[in-house]
Amino acid sequence: MSGRPWDASYRDGPAPWDIGRPQPAIARLASAGAFVGAVLDAGCGTGENALHVAALGLPVLGIDVAETALAMARKKAHERGLDVEFVAADALQLQRLGRRFTTVLDCGLFHTFDDNERQQYAVGLASVIEPGGTLYVLCFSDIGPDTGPHPVSRDELAAAFNPAAGWSVIALDAERIHTRFHGDDGAPAWLATVKRVSKDCATL
Ligand SMILES: C[S@@+](CC[C@H](N)C(=O)[O-])C[C@H]1O[C@@H](n2cnc3c(N)ncnc32)[C@H](O)[C@@H]1O
Repeated sequence: MSGRPWDASYRDGPAPWDIGRPQPAIARLASAGAFVGAVLDAGCGTGENALHVAALGLPVLGIDVAETALAMARKKAHERGLDVEFVAADALQLQRLGRRFTTVLDCGLFHTFDDNERQQYAVGLASVIEPGGTLYVLCFSDIGPDTGPHPVSRDELAAAFNPAAGWSVIALDAERIHTRFHGDDGAPAWLATVKRVSKDCATL
């Protein structure tokens, strides 16, 4: 786990991406009924998205490598009277969770991984998402102006979820990610909706 550099981002004031509320795109998904069953928030940070989904009454596990962020997320859950699990775990080793989820959320994690890590991540995701389950990825896009760090192209995002490995990208829409350093409209983003089609395709 490469948690240390990430943890430092949370120690001295809010991290640049930590806007203190759910991402509007994720809140819209939640309002539309996109989250069902057991939910995993991979790279949950201080938990605003996970807590928003948990407030709908769904069981949510948030994982992150940054212990400081997890402690903040647990404190918020306690203060809001919400029962959410926030656990230190590496999203590049999802198999180790030994659990299955109907819905997985990735808000701002995918775009931090390089090509090899994305392949590794997809293999792990395949092991934790139930057949028929759904992965939502909200990441920075490369369609400017004012792109965020690590912008991802539409092709790169789609390529990470290979149909031959049991994935189906059913939507890949232009969205916005809000940060503490972009204006009111946020930064250009993609919102991918990816279905887990087959349980038999275990590799990339
Ligand atoms: C850009 S932040 C987004 C945080 C949160 N999802 C949000 O929207 O505020 C990326 C998060 O992923 C976490 N992270 C990075 N690499 C990770 C890994 N391999 N496993 C789990 N979490 C990771 C970081 O600690 C950080 O909290």
